[in-house]
Amino acid sequence: MGRLQGKTAFVTGAAGGLGRAIALAFAAEGARVAMADVNERLLAESVAAHPDPRLLPVRCDVADRADVRAKIDRFATEAGGLDILVNNAVRFHYAPLAEFDPEIVDSMLAVGLKGALWALQAATPHLIARGGGSVVNLSSIAVSMAIPNASVYTAIKGAIDALTRQQAAELGPHRIRVNALAPGSVPTPGANAVIDAEGWKSREGKTVLRRLPTADDVARAAVFLASDDAASITGETLRIDAGMTVTGP
Ligand SMILES: NC(=O)c1ccc[n+]([C@@H]2O[C@H](COP(=O)([O-])OP(=O)(O)OC[C@H]3O[C@@H](n4cnc5c(N)ncnc54)[C@H](O)[C@@H]3O)[C@@H](O)[C@H]2O)c1
Repeated sequence: MGRLQGKTAFVTGAAGGLGRAIALAFAAEGARVAMADVNERLLAESVAAHPDPRLLPVRCDVADRADVRAKIDRFATEAGGLDILVNNAVRFHYAPLAEFDPEIVDSMLAVGLKGALWALQAATPHLIARGGGSVVNLSSIAVSMAIPNASVYTAIKGAIDALTRQQAAELGPHRIRVNALAPGSVPTPGANAVIDAEGWKSREGKTVLRRLPTADDVARAAVFLASDDAASITGETLRIDAGMTVTGP
């Protein structure tokens, strides 16, 4: 029996990258999964490449509070409840802070931070109605180390870490666990847009294991945090970085 048998999960930004890997891993463990994303073409491709009746593509813009609420409400009603929320959607953009257009900052905040707030607001009543559940937020090791040109991205991820602890305290009495994953650099469409070949080589060399973590590594950790195997773990941020943040100078 799968570790998420009988569970239902709403995963944001699930059309590609880490979100897709997480959605597929959840379904493989028996969960019914809403793959929520704005990119309908990529959603259709992902579902066609991985036909599984447990995967449900959902067009959803996490920056739009009403849309998030409508899609989470509909999924929870149709699936008979909601057990797991994964806040994964992001908009990557790296540049020196002085060069950031306000529109790009607003859009990054709208997807990466406010999107998580809206999804938490919408999901919480359903998780409470279920008698408990699990929230997994995607943070980053960028929070603990300076990455060139990543000020806005890192500020958002720092806020996600703080939100994780805050919500763990707020929702704990409802038996809802709230944790975060902090991946190291993982090749995905979004990361490839801001990291070049030299950047990947340098990052790999900085890991103590001399390998980059994979999307499947992150997905397996998400399954762990979402499952009853992590029944007493909440308010935690788990690094999956092949040891990149272990060593000093
Ligand atoms: N890849 C890495 O190296 C890395 C490292 C640390 C943390 N993370 C975190 O993991 C998560 C996933 O990263 P990734 O590398 O897979 O990113 P990605 O850019 O490859 O995928 C992000 C997904 O989010 C979707 N998305 C964008 N805007 C959206 C919106 N408004 N509503 C719904 N969906 C939207 C995109 O369409 C895309 O499918 C992010 O939170 C990221 O910060 C990634």
